[in-house]
Parts: sequence; structure tokens; C-alpha cells
Amino acid sequence: MPYNVLMPTIKRIGVLTGGGDCPGLNAVIRAVTKTAMHIYGLEVYGIEDGFLGLIQNRMRPLSWNDVSNILTLGGTILGTSNQANPQHFALDRGGKIAWTDVTDRVYDHLRANEIDAVVCIGGDGTMTGAANLINHGINCIGVPKTIDNDLEGCERTFGFETAVHTASECLDKIHTTAMSHHRVMVVEVMGRNAGWLALHTGVASGSDIILMPEIPYDLDKVCEVLHKRSRAGKRFSIMCVSEGSKPKGGDVVVLRRVETSPDPIRLGGIANKLVADIEAATKLEARATILGHIQRGGSPTPGDRVLATMFGYHALDLLMHGAEGQLVVLSGGKLGAVPIESVAGKQRTVPLDDPLVLAARAVGTDFGD
Ligand code: F6P
Repeated sequence: MPYNVLMPTIKRIGVLTGGGDCPGLNAVIRAVTKTAMHIYGLEVYGIEDGFLGLIQNRMRPLSWNDVSNILTLGGTILGTSNQANPQHFALDRGGKIAWTDVTDRVYDHLRANEIDAVVCIGGDGTMTGAANLINHGINCIGVPKTIDNDLEGCERTFGFETAVHTASECLDKIHTTAMSHHRVMVVEVMGRNAGWLALHTGVASGSDIILMPEIPYDLDKVCEVLHKRSRAGKRFSIMCVSEGSKPKGGDVVVLRRVETSPDPIRLGGIANKLVADIEAATKLEARATILGHIQRGGSPTPGDRVLATMFGYHALDLLMHGAEGQLVVLSGGKLGAVPIESVAGKQRTVPLDDPLVLAARAVGTDFGD
């Protein structure tokens, strides 16, 4: 631990949850708040709806009772937003969007509420927002969340394990109906431009084909695998497909654009495209299932509750020992920290030689390449 000076100047902290929600956010809020009160005697303010609450001055003191009985609760008691980066904020000017830097407002609201530092629980978008606040002299400590598991410098974000668990359970259910009807079942999972969720869910559910953004697929190869299985007497196939998958030389399927979001693209629909392409090319019957936001819901797994508690505790430990602008990370199975600035705006994708990719190939799973 490089930090060894206790910080008597920090009396009151803020905590916020930013970006898409995921299971385990409340477990971190609880760990941060209880550690702050119990070990360091601090006051904690809960900031509502992520950075939006900082921009609009919506925050409230949290009591011990406020954060009791929330360990197992999905979602976030503070609310969240994935459309509120203070540096790049969409203001409505007579029906037109004016992108405006409102960091000064955030600074004023934090000073007015006498908040000395902010624990920002979020993914890469939230860390980009936090990096900007740090540059304006606001101390932020980051806690890595996302079901996508794509935060640079961190081998496991909380929320990921629960999402894999939920998606795998769904795939188990798809399996039985696929067998009954002798169909190709294409199941689309989230994950944005990283294939971690598809890879882990695909392996955990014994999928025959896994498609992910890092390995663009060849439709002919995919159809060849399906035909081969069919010729071998296997009358159904399961495909676990990341929403960010794309054909070789082709592009991702965009579901919608959220114009007020700093990252406006929302992916979705590749499963429908694949079903149409596979049916046209093979004459096999296929169906698409898009799991969607069910993957972000529900109670965190015990593993995510433990990780969230460790992350929240460690965030306070870092802060009260003098850390500034650091993100809590898990690296080599150990808790550590990296500068938020070094991870902002970056995404951790699946390396082609990831041990799980190799293991999946070894047991006969195909990646459509
Ligand atoms: O980053 C988490 C995530 O669930 C991604 O996997 C997905 O692409 C995106 O958020 C969906 O965003 P929204 O909730 O805005 O539709």
C-alpha cells in the first residue's frame, strides 16, 4: 500500500452510481457508507442519478439505516444516469441540443454541500466523467462496475458474475425447447464492444457456437457448423451471440441512437439478422431470443456481493490514506488501484488467446471464424 497518511481534512464524502445499473451497486453503496461512518467517522451524502445529481444539486445525507438491508438488493437506491457527463452535457436550447461544459456547476454544488471527495461507482463513461472532475481539483475515487466486464486495468468488475449467471440460466431453458423443436436457437447477450459476457455465458451453458465482437464471424463457416451438427444427428444447435458481433468485413447492428448520451449508440438485433441469414442459407428453422435488460436485474450473486463489499471498503481505505484520482481494481486476484485518468475512455476487450477462448475451442465450441 503506497499510501500511509491518514486524511484528517476529509470529513464528508459523496457517493454516486453512474452509467447502466447492475447487480451489486447497493452492496458497494453499503460498504462505502458503513466503512466511512464506522471506521473513519465521516458523513456520507448520496448523490442522486449519478453525475446528473451533481449537475442539478440533488444529494442527501445517508444514515446507517438508509444502507442497511440493501446488500442483496438489485439496482441502485441512489438512481443512475448514462446521459450526464458534466464536461459534455446535453442542454435543451429551444428543442435543440447544445453540448455544454457544466463542470463549474458541479464544483459549486460540491463546495456548497462541503463534500471533500466523491466515490464514483461506474464503468468507463463514469470514469471519463470522474477524470474531468479530478482535473478540476475534485478528488474522486472510482469503483469498477459493469456487466460488460470491459473496464481497462481491472480483471473483474462486480455485476458481471450475476449477469453471466442470469444469462446462463436463460440459455439452459432455451436448450430444452431447442431440443424439442429441433431448431437453431440464437441467443443475444449484452456486452457492447466486448465479448466477455458472451464468452463466459456461452461456455457456462455449453453453447455450440459463440460469436463475439473480437472475432468477426464468417456466415458460411457458421452454417457449415450447423449443417455438420445436423448431419451428425444433432437436431438442434445453440448459439450465444454478443450484441456487438459482426460479420467479417461487415458492421454491428445498431438498435437505436440516444442523442443526449455522450456515447449515443445502443447495440441490439444481431440475433434477428443471424436467424434470417441462417434460415436463408441452410433451410434449418431458427429462432432469436434477445435477453436484454434482464441481464442487469436481480439480486447479486454471493461472489458479486463479496467483490462489491471488498471494492467499497478498499475505496475508503485508499481515500483515507491519501489517494487521489484512483480506481479500485482487481488484478492478479488482488485488490489494487490505478489512476482513473489511465483507464478513462478505454475498453478492455477479450484477447484472442484468452485461456477461456482456448478452452472453449478445445472442447469443440466454434467461434464462426
Ligand atoms: O454497459 C452496460 C449495458 O447493459 C451494455 O451491455 C448495453 O450495450 C448497454 O448498457 C445498454 O444501454 P441502455 O440501458 O441505455 O439501453
